[in-house]
Amino acid sequence: MSPTSKENLVNALNKALAWELRAIAMYAHYSAYVSGIHRLHLSNHFNNEVNESVMHASTVRSAIVKLDGIAITKRDKTEIVHTSNFKEMLSEAFDTEKKAAETYGEILPLVEEIGDTELFDALEVVYFDEQRSVEELRMMLKD
Ligand SMILES: [Fe+2]
Ligand SMILES: [Fe+2]
Repeated sequence: MSPTSKENLVNALNKALAWELRAIAMYAHYSAYVSGIHRLHLSNHFNNEVNESVMHASTVRSAIVKLDGIAITKRDKTEIVHTSNFKEMLSEAFDTEKKAAETYGEILPLVEEIGDTELFDALEVVYFDEQRSVEELRMMLKD
């Protein structure tokens, strides 16, 4: 594997890791603040998203370690919008999941390039999780 393709991949993985770290903070915040009748199920749902993001971050971090890269520890700078309104939360979540799906979509061809099938499989699972979330949120935002 060439040093540049490895470096590009580590950079792309760090971008994904930053989004996962932001997702952890955002979903934990929304789980605590969601109000109204929808709190009953959404608080739990957001909490599950926290756990999923922790697992995704762990997968990505392991990939970076495997590639001898240095994993970042700071979340993506995109503002986490404070609200207690569930519709606003879902719309912020929708944007976040679309961004995540896009980021993993960019990573997969780079992993293919270096020919690591184990890494490809692990990251493809994460990519599918994000795709599923995008579709789920699209349905949740529908009237
Ligand atoms: Fe994720
Ligand atoms: Fe996600």
